[in-house]
Amino acid sequence: MNAEFKLVENAVTRAQDLLKLLSLDEKIGQLTQLNGEGGHIADSLREGIRAGRVGSVINEVNPDTLAELQRIARDENAHGIPLLIGRDVIHGFRTIMPIPLGMAASWQPELIRLSAEIAAEEASIQGVNWTFAPMLDISRDPRWGRMAESFGEDPLLTSEFGAAMVKGFQNGGEHQLVSCLKHFVGYGASESGRDYNTTYIPEVELRNVHLRPFHACVKAGAMSLMPSFSDLNGMPPSGNSWLLRTVLRDEWGFSGLVVSDWCSITELMNHGVAESPAHAGRISALAGVSIDMVSNAYADHLAEQVRSGEICQALVDQLCTEVLAVKYAAGLFDAGTREYSYAARTEHADVAARKLATESVVLLKNDHQTLPLQRSANQTVCLIGPLADQPYEQLGTWVFDADTDRSVTLRQALEAEFGERLSFSAALEFSRDHNQQNFDDAAALANNADLIVLALGEEAILSGEAHCRTDLGLPGAQSALLERLKTLGKPIVAIIMAGRPLTIEPLLHQVDSVLYAFHPGSQAGPALCDLLMGDAVPSGKLPVTMPRVVGQIPMYYAHGNTGRPPVEGTVFGLDDIEIGAGQTSVGNTSFHLDVDPSPLFPFGYGLSYTWFEYSELEVHESLKTADGQLKVSVQVRNCGEHAAYETVQLYTRDPVASVTRPVRELKAFEKVFLQGGEAKRIEFALRVDDLAFFNGQQWLAEPGVIQLWAGSDSAAQLGTEVRILESEASPHVVKQI
Ligand code: GLC
Repeated sequence: MNAEFKLVENAVTRAQDLLKLLSLDEKIGQLTQLNGEGGHIADSLREGIRAGRVGSVINEVNPDTLAELQRIARDENAHGIPLLIGRDVIHGFRTIMPIPLGMAASWQPELIRLSAEIAAEEASIQGVNWTFAPMLDISRDPRWGRMAESFGEDPLLTSEFGAAMVKGFQNGGEHQLVSCLKHFVGYGASESGRDYNTTYIPEVELRNVHLRPFHACVKAGAMSLMPSFSDLNGMPPSGNSWLLRTVLRDEWGFSGLVVSDWCSITELMNHGVAESPAHAGRISALAGVSIDMVSNAYADHLAEQVRSGEICQALVDQLCTEVLAVKYAAGLFDAGTREYSYAARTEHADVAARKLATESVVLLKNDHQTLPLQRSANQTVCLIGPLADQPYEQLGTWVFDADTDRSVTLRQALEAEFGERLSFSAALEFSRDHNQQNFDDAAALANNADLIVLALGEEAILSGEAHCRTDLGLPGAQSALLERLKTLGKPIVAIIMAGRPLTIEPLLHQVDSVLYAFHPGSQAGPALCDLLMGDAVPSGKLPVTMPRVVGQIPMYYAHGNTGRPPVEGTVFGLDDIEIGAGQTSVGNTSFHLDVDPSPLFPFGYGLSYTWFEYSELEVHESLKTADGQLKVSVQVRNCGEHAAYETVQLYTRDPVASVTRPVRELKAFEKVFLQGGEAKRIEFALRVDDLAFFNGQQWLAEPGVIQLWAGSDSAAQLGTEVRILESEASPHVVKQI
């Protein structure tokens, strides 16, 4: 395969040369993607490939079938054009890593890159050469099931982790996958957190928040991109030429291919912007969608539209060149007759999955130093709960090809650790189970143990595509189970596995410790056991804000200040308001009468078995320096005895600008390892561009004060400020829009 996965000049040249040899029908064939049939090769697929009417196949992973499909394309097609074989390899293939929301909680780009590299190896061994990942949707509404697939609410984190995943897939080694940036753009802002719903996002918000990760990943070399199902400001992205041509191609210089989402072309009719499949196909082709994922709008109508002059031949040539160039750049023409096989288990993959899972778990509470458990104490432990022994559920969403036999549960890991000192009862068969018949037995077991480990959360099906919820409490009778166990007066460690933040405030007051694991994957058990026993110290940090109640959503840290931010001492709680209270007695600020205006846990939050102190936040150089950098440094000390990771976070605010700016924005982070008692000075270098924003007319960093904070999460209090001078700011207008 190509040493470089970049879309290099010769790939485009080679594509243009090959294009000259193709008929109109063969060119349209390259724009057509069909769905695989579970190992079977229908005559229509065989004949379609042979005749050059199919350029890519989705959802076929049988290695023998894929070898045959590529053989037909190579040996029986007139031009021997290999197929792109697409699959959703979202967080692992056979070995499942934490869901992307969990990966993001690790704040470890290098581990995310490695996880993608491993997934690429496992998938490409079977013949897959294209994945529909990374998903880069900024997600600030946990009602939306696809938050599970995202890297959370912050554009910088999503940019860094998305780019790491692109590099892991397109890694320049023997086993690569073409990456695909999705879902372009603003899908995470679907109204009411209901999937596929309408989004209205002003350009300032689009450019400062939702477009940023896509731009970062185009720069990282991603070779394909997928428009979203949602309606964006009245024109769905599958037909949105401002998005697919003006922004993606003209401004960013993207040279890869654009693949529609599943039938998103013909769904333009449902949206109400197309009257027929032919009309929908024409809209998408004109907007710049290179490949039609399984709707057949291109296959059935493009040729006639070209012949009738409704669509010019040059447009089809351009779309076809984009596809062929990616195939050349991906080395598919050089792949020869590669053998495919089922990916075998590797120790390397399990080790990586365990490390990433361990670093993805967030410690939200740990009263009385309940954790880590002490081996010397020879405690007896009772493990209870519907997520304790569910090898499939702990994997989370998008795990079509998972080797579930290799999924190690918390029960298996704790049995290996505690032996006879562990008792177990699921108490509930699954997370939505309302049947309390086993509660007595579970309580009896727990009563004989020193400590309860309670594994709660969501089954995998309760998050992911189209799986949105309006009530984010623990499903089924899990809360009743906790209440029953609470009556025993035993220490309780709660482990929550879910595809999103759940509204767990009621649970918080009933347990001593909480470990929150966004569906942690194949190695959930060993990772959680490592953390319970102190063989690893929790280091996860929330990539999303955790609300107290659904009514607070959307809730995120980088919010506007409003003209009337809530003030200290604001009364909240309906019963706390005096009877006959006067109209303005509870204050007219931006809050809800019936809930604390703060989040349950802020973005970036996560505890450790030690604690860290921050001091001496310093700004070393002004932006006058030759390289125009602002050097910021802060001292961080591990004040406890446990050696541990800490993610040092740097936030800024532009308090006065030409448009309102967020009260905080993450500008840099570094995950550092500190021995007990060790202190380090962590240095960041901010460029003026890092402080630039789109103000509706242009990208620029404006002169004026910039406030900075460094600390352990987005509520960090250690702050300072600098002033960007006129001379430093104006030359740094990053680009005119
Ligand atoms: C799905 C998803 C998209 C996925 C595609 C192919 O509906 O929206 O993320 O890549 O179809 O499975």
